[in-house]
Amino acid sequence: MTPPRPLQLRTLTIAPPVALAPMAGFTNSAFRAICRRYHCGWVLTELVSSEGLARRDPKTLHYLEATPAERPVAAHLYGHDPDVMARAAAVAEALGRFDLIDINAGCPVPKIMSRGAGAGLLRDPERLKAMVQAVRAMVRLPVTVKTRLGISPQRVNISEVAQAVEEGGADALVVHARVASRRHAGPADWAWLARLARERRLPIIGNGGIGTAQDAVAMLRQTGVAGVMIGRAAIGNPWIFDETACLLSGRPYAPPPAAERCAVLLEHLRRLVELLEGERRFRRRMRLTPEQAACLQFRAHLVRAFHGRPGLRELIRRFDALTTLAAVEGAVTEMFAGLDAAGGSC
Ligand SMILES: Cc1cc2nc3c(=O)[nH]c(=O)nc-3n(C[C@H](O)[C@H](O)[C@H](O)COP(=O)(O)O)c2cc1C
Repeated sequence: MTPPRPLQLRTLTIAPPVALAPMAGFTNSAFRAICRRYHCGWVLTELVSSEGLARRDPKTLHYLEATPAERPVAAHLYGHDPDVMARAAAVAEALGRFDLIDINAGCPVPKIMSRGAGAGLLRDPERLKAMVQAVRAMVRLPVTVKTRLGISPQRVNISEVAQAVEEGGADALVVHARVASRRHAGPADWAWLARLARERRLPIIGNGGIGTAQDAVAMLRQTGVAGVMIGRAAIGNPWIFDETACLLSGRPYAPPPAAERCAVLLEHLRRLVELLEGERRFRRRMRLTPEQAACLQFRAHLVRAFHGRPGLRELIRRFDALTTLAAVEGAVTEMFAGLDAAGGSC
């Protein structure tokens, strides 16, 4: 098996061509840095408003904080107006901490779609093309677009959208192989990825329905896409990137020892507390302390990290009641104490 070619986007070389998909509420700076450490090829910020960024709103800028450990990292922006998007991209580029600009054309949240942004752009490929052109003309960084197959099963127009994005001058197109009306549910249609990879000149990055490292490799091999993005399967399991990298390069993979996984999870939680402490100044009222909020947010990672273990239901009940760092640390350490300590990462 020959390893896939690195993804070349202008002067940026990405290897392996496997990304962490943007996920609101999950892909903050802490999680992004950990995924990069485990051989994730590139990461994207959470979704940020181009309007807020174009006017340098302090809260929007706060959401674009990123550390050097995350690079290559994309600023993931949404908006409706091509000129505003271009100005926002220029602000992101000037921050000097991003390697790519990614335009969201797939978010199905009604508040965003109803304003013609996110998946709302699928209704108007000409506007999306104008947006890509405006951003392309404004920045030197590679420009990507993340989109879906269409608005609904009756309105699949990804061929037209891909053509518009290519003609607009984007450097790659990320396709989540579902329609917006399905949100994240149901099977992803990889046949579309194969067709787009065959038909289009610009690199296609496939996304949707990757549950394991083997799935990521299968998507690359079966569809011929230039890269893949992993979303939910990385939650609580940043090691999936390491495993994928090993499979792709033909190296043997052994999961990190329990002690390492435990330490990484707890590091993630502590960084999350710090991030929420930083966010405090932008919130008028906070019902929970940053520590409590971080512990609650972290439950999704824990549930996934221990998925398939005996007593998961009981564990979830237990995690629900843990709202201090010390309590979560104690519970997680206890959980890992019983797990195997064999292996190591490649
Ligand atoms: C909780 C959550 C939040 C998400 N937020 C975003 C987002 O802000 N921008 C975006 O382009 N996609 C977002 N997505 C979609 C993912 O990037 C990805 O396209 C989708 O989950 C399919 O990939 P998967 O099957 O590997 O999870 C989100 C998905 C989830 C589950």
